[in-house]
Formats: sequence, structure tokens, C-alpha cells
Amino acid sequence: MRVLSVASECVPLVKTGGLADVAGALPGALAREGVEMRTLLPGYPAVMAAADGPAHDLGDLFGGPARLVEGRLGEATLYALDAPHLFDRPGGIYLGPDGQDWPDNPQRFAALSRTAARVAAEGVGGWQPQVMHLHDWQAGLAPLYLGTQAAGSGVATLLTIHNIAFQGLAPAAMIDTLGLPPAGFTPEGYEYWGQVSALKAGLVHADAISTVSPTYASELLTPEFGLGLDGVLRARRADLCGILNGIDEDAWTPPYRTPRGKGRHTRRLRDELGLPEREGPLAVVISRLTGQKGLDLLIEALPALIDGGGQLALLGSGEPVLEAAFRDAAAASPHVAVRIGYDEALSRRMIAGGDAILVPSRFEPCGLTQLYGLRFGTVPVVARTGGLADTVIDANPAAISAGVATGLHFHPVTADRLAQALVKMTALWHDRTLWQRMMRNAMAQPVGWDVSARAYADLYRSLATPS
Ligand code: ADP
Ligand code: GLC
Repeated sequence: MRVLSVASECVPLVKTGGLADVAGALPGALAREGVEMRTLLPGYPAVMAAADGPAHDLGDLFGGPARLVEGRLGEATLYALDAPHLFDRPGGIYLGPDGQDWPDNPQRFAALSRTAARVAAEGVGGWQPQVMHLHDWQAGLAPLYLGTQAAGSGVATLLTIHNIAFQGLAPAAMIDTLGLPPAGFTPEGYEYWGQVSALKAGLVHADAISTVSPTYASELLTPEFGLGLDGVLRARRADLCGILNGIDEDAWTPPYRTPRGKGRHTRRLRDELGLPEREGPLAVVISRLTGQKGLDLLIEALPALIDGGGQLALLGSGEPVLEAAFRDAAAASPHVAVRIGYDEALSRRMIAGGDAILVPSRFEPCGLTQLYGLRFGTVPVVARTGGLADTVIDANPAAISAGVATGLHFHPVTADRLAQALVKMTALWHDRTLWQRMMRNAMAQPVGWDVSARAYADLYRSLATPS
């Protein structure tokens, strides 16, 4: 089985969020299922640095020359879309120096999608996929472009929604520039309230749609979570499924084997962050600071943790208002440590040293940090939504007496309920036997890729025409 995965970010080359982890893990996880997955990425400078293999000329692509250059992504093959006029620039992969989307983002990711369709239709260097696995809006136009390829390739398409909040909108005036079929610009097609929507194009035209947890798959059918696309998804509900993300268990191995081993790391973390010793839980957060993540609720609920004897260590960056609020919280209490920035090594020390990891998201398609938490016995305290609901077993009385709890849920997602959960967490932490039982359960819960890689492989096989 040959699959082309198409994404806008991928570890270890370029990452802004969990999509990169997933795109980076899939080829290895699927190789174990007999799937040969190759990955197509935009040729940002960091991607081009990994592309030193044969090059295939693509001619002009939205106003400049383009090539597909082969490289390695771990054990797997990388195709880098070398189009310097679109991707060879300093700064963020989505945002310019002014913090706004690059003005030519529609062309940049249309170029990625168009190239994917071309690889699917014509193959590259004698390799042709049977299935294209497309990630998020940046790859959303690929099924549309593929449909307009004269040959009709027989290549099946799967679109995975990692986050429906990003829809890839462009002005209708760009239909020609992007080479889209004007007849498809209708409410049944890729039109979204008078604009072009790359995500909607994918949702309408892909053979199948998946998202990254079963609960988010059903939430997406509701107006509250579907963000204007719930109707489109309801129309396609027979083709929609949820497959949970995993984490790379080799890359995320705790430096201890039992709950007892954690103490040393907690002491070190307090030292490193300047937090005083305290007989209470140390909660950690590693997150983008955006509305999705619900961290404004944590600001409000913080007294419930700190006055109850706990501590908070937060690592994140994002919206200036939230950055400032957490900086202020750290200035106001010796029991709050805040690091603004992006720091993978520190994030690992925090997950190893923390007692609990907080994820109060308003919506969360899957979420990865609670999975790291489980693996490290860092008890997740999560909003009961999306993948958080699917991966954490709440310490309700039934789960406690059955001895299966791995964390705490709260719902609805409000500051009050979060505060209550923090109070409950603190009480559970003081019951050392119970807490250690939760840690052991968490550490024993499978969070790797095995089950989900099999689910993707089965899905590809059900979509592909045999060859
Ligand atoms: P999302 O993709 O919505 O941001 P996920 O939980 O799926 O949420 O993935 C976020 C990924 O980014 C995780 O691997 C997390 O550890 C990492 N991450 C987020 N913020 C930071 C940060 N400030 N420093 C280091 N890693 C971070
Ligand atoms: C998105 C979601 C997150 C998910 C990640 C990878 O960024 O916000 O919940 O884990 O994609 O699928």
C-alpha cells in the first residue's frame, strides 16, 4: 500500500503544534502495518535543508519556478516542494513578521495541494500513491485539483481535520489565480459565505474524512463545534470517523519506571523554576496560549490551586493578553512560575517533574500533552471535550472503586468547574495511596500508535482501488 501524506508541518523539520508530531510519526507507525508512506511538505528553508536527493521539475507554479526535491524523513521518503517565491523566506511558516498571515497563504498552500494532486495523477520518479492522506486546510484543495486532472487517476483521498477553527479562506476574486473550477463555487461546493474555503473543498471532495478522536468526530456535527461546517459534515457523516492520535513512546519515555521515581524530578523542577518546596501538588501546563486552550479560565481558577497549597508551572506562548496575565500571576505569587516561549527540553522536564498536567481546553480535537502526562504518570486534569474525554479516565467514585482512574475531567468548561477540579485534585494528591494508584494506571495506559496505525491502514485499504 502506497500513501502520500501531505502536511504543512512535520517533526523534526518544522513544528508549530500537534499536527507536526502526527505527520512526523505516521510514516514510521504505518510502516509497521505494511504501508509505505511518503510525505510531501512545503519547501521552507528547514525542509529544503533535508532535501538533498533527486529533483523533478514542476515548471511554473503560481508565478515562479518549482521543483519537487526528494529527501529523507527518518526512514521514510520526503518530497519537498521547492518553490522559493512561496516558501523561501525568513519568519514563521504561516505568519509574517507583523504577526499576520502571509498575504499569499492561499497561493502557498494551493501550490502544495496542486502538487499533491499532480503526484497522485502522474506519479513522481516512477512512484505513484494509491491513497493521498491530506492534513487540514493547507492540503484541502488537493481532491478538487485531482478531480480536474484530465486522466482521472483512481487515487483515493482522505482528509484529516486536526482543527476545524482553521478553514483556509480566500477572496472569491482568487478563483482564477488559484486555477479552481468556477462551477464549483457554490454552497454545495467550495464556496463559504462568498469566499473560497480550502477546508470545505476538501470536506466536500475527499473520498473520506477523519478527525483525531471519536468524540471530536461527533462534536463536529454540532453548531457549537462545527464552526459553520457542521452542516457539510452532517451531510458526509457516513464517511467521517475519529482515529485517536498516539505519541512516539520511544521519544517520550519517562526517566523513571515507577511513581516513586518522579520525586527527584519534581525537586529538580522546583529548583530550576525557583519554586519553593511545598507540601502540595505541582501542576504544569505546556500550551499555545490561545482561546481554544481555555487558559483564561485557569487565571480565574488559580486561587483554588495556590490557596489550597498547590503550585503552577506554565510554559507557553501566544496571545499577548494571556502572556501578560500569566506573567502577572507569577509576579503576584511565589508559587507560580511562568516561562513564555517555546522550549521542548524544558517541556520534557516539566512533564517529568509535574504531579499533574492541566488541559482546560474549550475544544480539543485530540491533544497530545495529556498523553505525555499519562505516559509520565503526570495526572491529567482535563476539560471533558474531544480527545481529552477519550483518553483520560475520570476519577469519579465508580472509577476510583474499580481502580481504573487515570485523571480528572471537568465539565462544563468554566472557571468554577476548573476550580472545583483543582480542589479535588489537591485532595486526591494528599491521599498518597490513591494518587500513586492513579499514576500507575496512567503510566500503564497505552498511548502509542499501534491501534490507530492499524485503523488508518484499514481505512486506506478500504479506500484504495487494488493495483
Ligand atoms: P495543538 O496542536 O492544538 O497546539 P497538541 O496538544 O496537539 O495541541 O500539540 C501541541 C504540541 O506542541 C505538543 O507536542 C506540546 O508539547 C507542544 N508545545 C506547545 N507549546 C509548547 C511550548 N511553549 N514549548 C514546547 N512545546 C510546546
Ligand atoms: C490540532 C489540535 C490538537 C491535535 C493536533 C494533532 O492542533 O488542536 O488537539 O492534537 O492538531 O492532531
